[in-house]
Amino acid sequence: MQDIDLRQYIRGIPDFPKPGILFYDISTLLRNADAWQLATARMAHAVSPWQPDQLAAIESRGFLTAAPLSTRLGCGLIMLRKPGKLPGDTISLTYALEYGSDSLHIQADAILPGQRVVVTDDLLATGGTLAASVALLRKAGAEVVGASVLVELTSLGGREKLDIPVHALLSYDE
Ligand code: PRP
Ligand code: MG
Repeated sequence: MQDIDLRQYIRGIPDFPKPGILFYDISTLLRNADAWQLATARMAHAVSPWQPDQLAAIESRGFLTAAPLSTRLGCGLIMLRKPGKLPGDTISLTYALEYGSDSLHIQADAILPGQRVVVTDDLLATGGTLAASVALLRKAGAEVVGASVLVELTSLGGREKLDIPVHALLSYDE
């Protein structure tokens, strides 16, 4: 299993959710016990040198990578959630999408001053979601030391929107 190319567990589904979009479906990786174990082990190995205090998880699919990574690394987990989901005082950030805008929230007391945070998501595409998450975490007092994603679509240039190191387990150039 150690030598395996995990790419074979991810399938490209054409024209989903819209015509012309090639959707990288991670479900087929998640449902294979050995492949998923190996994927999270490799991601944790890459993130470990950044020595995070907390993993920040971007709703929804970032929750999937954050939970196993935080337990493998022995650090905490903080949720970055869509509006109306978190109780108590929150800090929010609104960011532009291709059509319209979206917001992410974090609990105001989630980060202790200067805590080292790695943010994680399933996918780095245009980079809008991760860039907004980094800005929100900084607003909440975090030292954001890296980003970890399962899949990066390199042709969209999302990485250039980020001023932190980014580790992608699997990269696709189309
Ligand atoms: C998807 C994906 C990433 C984001 C990547 O989330 O899970 O979070 O898009 O795109 P970007 O790099 O262009 O910002 P989506 O908002 O579709 O929702 P979900 O995670 O709730 O399924
Ligand atoms: Mg998402």
